[in-house]
Amino acid sequence: MKIMSLLWTKSFLFLLSIPCLCSSQLSPPPLRFSAFLDHSNLVFMSWDHDAEEIMTFELRVKTTGWVAFGFSPHGELPGSDIVIGGVFPNGSIYFSDWHAVDEENLEEDKSQDYQLLSLTEDEIFTTIRFKRYFQTCDPNDLDITGDTARLISAFGTDDTVQFSKGQRFLKSLFLMRVISPTELNDPKIFFTHDLKLNDFPIPVDETTYACTFIPLPIVKQKHHIYKFEPIITTHQNRSMVHHILVYACGNGSVLPTGISDCYGANPDFALCSQVVAGWAVGGGSYQFPNEAAISIGTPMDPQYIRLEIHYSNFDLIPGLIDNSGIRLYYTLDLRPYDMGVLQTGVFTFPVHFIPPGADTYKSYGLCKSSQFNEMNGTPVPDLKVFGFLLHTHLAGRGLKVVQYRKGEQVRIICEDNKYDFSLQETRDLKEVITIKVGDEILVECNFQTLDRTEITFGGPSTLNEMCLAFLFYYPRNNISSCMGYPDIQQIASALGQEASDAMEGMIAMNYVEWNNETIKNAEKAAKEADQTVIIKTIDVSVVCLYLAEWLGVGKTWSALEFETKAHGRTKVSALSTAEILPLPLLLLTQLAFTWLLISYQCRI
Ligand SMILES: *[C@@H]1O[C@H](CO)[C@@H](O)[C@H](O)[C@H]1NC(C)=O
Ligand SMILES: *[C@@H]1O[C@H](CO)[C@@H](O)[C@H](O)[C@H]1NC(C)=O
Ligand SMILES: *[C@@H]1O[C@H](CO)[C@@H](O)[C@H](O)[C@H]1NC(C)=O
Ligand SMILES: *[C@@H]1O[C@H](CO)[C@@H](O)[C@H](O)[C@H]1NC(C)=O
Ligand SMILES: *[C@@H]1O[C@H](CO)[C@@H](O)[C@H](O)[C@H]1NC(C)=O
Repeated sequence: MKIMSLLWTKSFLFLLSIPCLCSSQLSPPPLRFSAFLDHSNLVFMSWDHDAEEIMTFELRVKTTGWVAFGFSPHGELPGSDIVIGGVFPNGSIYFSDWHAVDEENLEEDKSQDYQLLSLTEDEIFTTIRFKRYFQTCDPNDLDITGDTARLISAFGTDDTVQFSKGQRFLKSLFLMRVISPTELNDPKIFFTHDLKLNDFPIPVDETTYACTFIPLPIVKQKHHIYKFEPIITTHQNRSMVHHILVYACGNGSVLPTGISDCYGANPDFALCSQVVAGWAVGGGSYQFPNEAAISIGTPMDPQYIRLEIHYSNFDLIPGLIDNSGIRLYYTLDLRPYDMGVLQTGVFTFPVHFIPPGADTYKSYGLCKSSQFNEMNGTPVPDLKVFGFLLHTHLAGRGLKVVQYRKGEQVRIICEDNKYDFSLQETRDLKEVITIKVGDEILVECNFQTLDRTEITFGGPSTLNEMCLAFLFYYPRNNISSCMGYPDIQQIASALGQEASDAMEGMIAMNYVEWNNETIKNAEKAAKEADQTVIIKTIDVSVVCLYLAEWLGVGKTWSALEFETKAHGRTKVSALSTAEILPLPLLLLTQLAFTWLLISYQCRI
């Protein structure tokens, strides 16, 4: 059990006598990470963590009044864990650990688990440095985890703390960053190339997904792209850009021209699905680790990317012209390896369904890598995974990527149990992990659909859902994606419906009376059903499709259950097209592009 060295009493707190705690070292160690917590750059936070599981924060806030900072469970105030401090006009300081009991009221924690390190104020800024353990033993504190944190910050203009009357901000942030910018090698000579929209008129719509295809730099020699940086147009100090994704295109695709709705009438604007960079509101630039980068300039390399920009124009402001995008940095100073991106998760396809009214519903997509060597053409070297990017749409609440080898769980590669659609970013793993050919990778996505009355099907539009994990690794191979989906006939049968093929299975879902019991039954059946695994290579002409059967009664795929064993074996080497092709016409048109790409050839 960890207990902070001091339990302060309130009376003690409000005395000036804290210098023994405010460390007397000459200059405190620099904190590796930093971000603004508000849009107007009034609240600047630096932070760092260490092997003792202590997180140190420093807030520099543009006020001479009180300052508050804390963690919210999911963005709401009740249940939030908050620390408040400041400097009185007479120079004495106050600092204390609180929690929000409801929308209006804070209560001081009996157990004080934030340790003040320094607290100063000048004419403009109040600066507070403090630390705490990731986990305190106080039920009124929230744990600091590897999930997306929902940070609350607030301040007032004077030292009369009235929390509900101050300016308050909420920001999603990933605190467990591992690589600081200073550890990354910047090449001496580099070039930049902008992937951006040119004078794009932002539609007067709340949400727009603008897509366009842009060539990568044309170079005669091999270069490495090692860094991405957002270029954001501001309009009256505000940005309409919500998030940006960059997808690499295969060499063979015939790409459309112009800018269009990514998931609208023309399905070609959704081509190219291999994410190489992601940025979301509040994020910064991302640089690959020193070992690897994206190769351009050789025949193996992508020549085009799809730029996807999500605009949020909630105030329906007309006449905005935008030039946002991503700047990439590339160099001749090559890193040791070319990196690749492996897309795993649930195959995006309407057999992926999520019942309405679910507080929580988990989906499972399996990658069985035993066919990688045959698919690749040459033996696939071990994949050294260094980073990841998780992706669902609006119903997604959490994702988990688990690795199995010979039926045993090896590790949870990455997870985020508080996924925020607004914070899609590449994250580095704490340490580089190895995936060997033959390993299985299971992606579990947790969805919430309490606000929905109809079934949500898998699909590219934000009204549909996705469950994807992009694994960033080196050295590069030819496999671009390895995803699975459960047998919907088995799910239908578990729900007492008859279905002789996948289409009937999907139609049957509409006849199910969805309540919390049928939702749980569907989830269990989907978890235990055989999975169809689909593997694609970078030149999508080679697709491998096969059934993986999971053995064992009461088997479970939840990574939460560590004793779980994954007994996978390949049952059928190819699935007849007739088994999956007949889908409702509506869904078929939406997915036609995906299926046209699939030739059903499986070189095994
Ligand atoms: C400074 O001001 C605060 C608030 O008015 C008061 O509580 C505190 O006792 C004062 N401290 C000293 C040393 O006068
Ligand atoms: C934009 O920001 C500048 C500098 O921070 C500020 O002076 C100006 O008032 C802001 N404009 C608006 C419209 O918020
Ligand atoms: C990609 O296209 C280029 C030119 O269009 C061609 O020379 C190259 O062989 C292609 N690479 C692959 C892997 O197909
Ligand atoms: C990709 O496939 C080609 C042709 O099958 C093969 O020559 C090449 O070595 C493969 N590339 C990698 C990185 O394995
Ligand atoms: C399931 O239970 C939750 C409360 O736990 C409820 O809000 C929800 O409406 C229920 N769903 C259905 C489909 O009945």
